[in-house]
Order: sequence, then C-alpha cells, then structure tokens
Amino acid sequence: MTQRVRKAVFPAGGLGTRFLPATKVVPKEMLPLVDKPIIQYGVEECLASGIEHIIFITGRGKSAMEDHFDFSFELDANLERRGKKELLELSRRVATMARVSYVRQKEPLGLGHAVLCAKDLVGDEPFAVLLPDDVVDAPRPCIGQLIDVFNQRNGSVLATMTIEGPAISAYGVLAGSADAQNPRIYNCTGMVEKPKFEDAPSTQAIVGRYVLTPRVFELLETTKPGAGNEIQLTDGILALLAQEKVFGYTFEGKRYDAGDKFGMLQATVEFALKREEFSEKFRDYLKSLPL
Ligand code: UTP
Repeated sequence: MTQRVRKAVFPAGGLGTRFLPATKVVPKEMLPLVDKPIIQYGVEECLASGIEHIIFITGRGKSAMEDHFDFSFELDANLERRGKKELLELSRRVATMARVSYVRQKEPLGLGHAVLCAKDLVGDEPFAVLLPDDVVDAPRPCIGQLIDVFNQRNGSVLATMTIEGPAISAYGVLAGSADAQNPRIYNCTGMVEKPKFEDAPSTQAIVGRYVLTPRVFELLETTKPGAGNEIQLTDGILALLAQEKVFGYTFEGKRYDAGDKFGMLQATVEFALKREEFSEKFRDYLKSLPL
C-alpha cells in the first residue's frame, strides 16, 4: 500500500529575472493571470487533487505571498461595511482555502536546494512539487493525474510533454522508453538538465509538476551544483533513479510558462477566452483588431 500524497511544495525562492522589471518588487508568483496571482492556480490544483498542506519555499521580497493567503483585516472590514458580500467572500476564501507553511530559502542556490528546504515539514512521506510559474489547464488537475500514476506504480512521477526540435534545450529531458501498457507512462532510465539539441536523449521534456518519494531529500543533501552552478532537482532525481523506479507521465492538458513574458501573454489570452463572464466580449475585441 502506497502512502497518501498529502503535502505539496511550491519552490518560490527564485529571482524571476525573465520577467523584469515587473519582478523587481513584485514576486513573479504574484503576477496576475486574468484576476488571480499565478500561484493561486497551483494551490487550487492541489486542493482539487486531495492535497491538504501547502509548503511555500520563499525568499527575500516574497512576503506578498504570505499576505495573499492570509486575512486582510482592513480590506475585509471595508468590504463588510460597504455590504460587498461577494468580494468579501472572494477575499476570505483565499485566506482559508488551504493549510499553508512557509520556509525561507536564504540564498537562491537552485531548485534542488529549494525542495530540500521542505525536508523537515514534509518528513518521511511522498510529496508533490509544483513550480508556480508553470500553469496547467487540464480536464483533470495535472498533479492529481501524477498522484494516480504514483499510486498505481509506487514510484516517483514527473510530468512531461513532447518537445520536437531545438526548444528541448530549455528543459530537463528524460531517457528511457514508453511503457508497454500505458503509452502516457515513460519508464525512465536517465535524465539530463538542459542538454544541447543534438545530445537530448528523447523528446520527453520535464515540466513543473512532480510526485517524489522522501528518499530524494537524502540525495539532494549530497547533490553538488550542476548546470548554471545551481543545485538541480534533476540531479537529485537522477540519484534517486539509481535506487528506485522513476516514471515520466505525459499529462493531459496544456502547460503555460507564465514566468516568461510571452508564455504569460498566451496564458492570459487563452484563460480570458475561457471565462464565461467576458469570453464573448473578449473574442469580439480580438476579432476587431487589425491583425
Ligand atoms: P526558474 O529558473 O524558472 O526561476 O526556477 P527563477 O530563477 O525565479 O526565474 P528566472 O529564470 O530568473 O526568470 C524554477 C522554479 O524554482 C524556483 C523558482 O522560484 C521557480 O519557481 N527556485 C529556483 C527556487 O525556489 N530557488 C532557487 O534557488 C531557484
């Protein structure tokens, strides 16, 4: 019997340099996608997948995130006084939606190091990792899809998507082969962070959703800085692969890199088009543009 995945780690200690100057003061996790900060999409995905405890790895200048998932006394009192019931509900819901904890990553030493900062709070149980700037629109929550595979196969699972061509060099890439029973599952034998196109072992690119066993913590403790001189999560998972099974899973849905300016624009247009209250108006507006 596998242990239930109850906790999710959100590494949010990075500097967000790809989105400067917006991220000089505002954490990139707090940039709005239509009307919610991008991190809230990931939190809602977890809650819809049965996760109960959210662990944010933060850094200097990230306190807006803590304020967001808390009560805002002045705002709530003002909305109450003015009888703005729906808005008050919206504001309070964010504060009560999840059990949250924060760990401060004192230096941005890399994604692997950020995940390691959650070791004490996660303890000896499997856990999810979500990179908040990867926003996924899916028929079933993406992290829930990975948890299902974890429960079936009893091994760590990484979300993947197929990338053809040189764009693969921006990702961690899996080596291995597709599973005979389920072609969405990839039996992993290796992985490499940001390979040159000619060296990429497959077209299976890792995106920001993982379900990992707690053994990865021990391995991250001894992982040396790798690509970009950062402690890479991929290197920790590679060490895990020497001891346990690791799977890729081509999730159903579409991922947007909202930590990138162009990715955020794509997500904004597509999420806005799906919003009932203004999708028609927005569609008409887009059609009216002299493109
Ligand atoms: P990114 O490389 O996308 O994030 O890291 P970044 O460094 O914030 O952004 P750019 O590239 O400068 O624009 C992937 C994830 O890992 C987290 C980031 O916050 C992001 O969610 N991260 C990265 C940490 O938490 N700590 C680190 O030391 C590095």
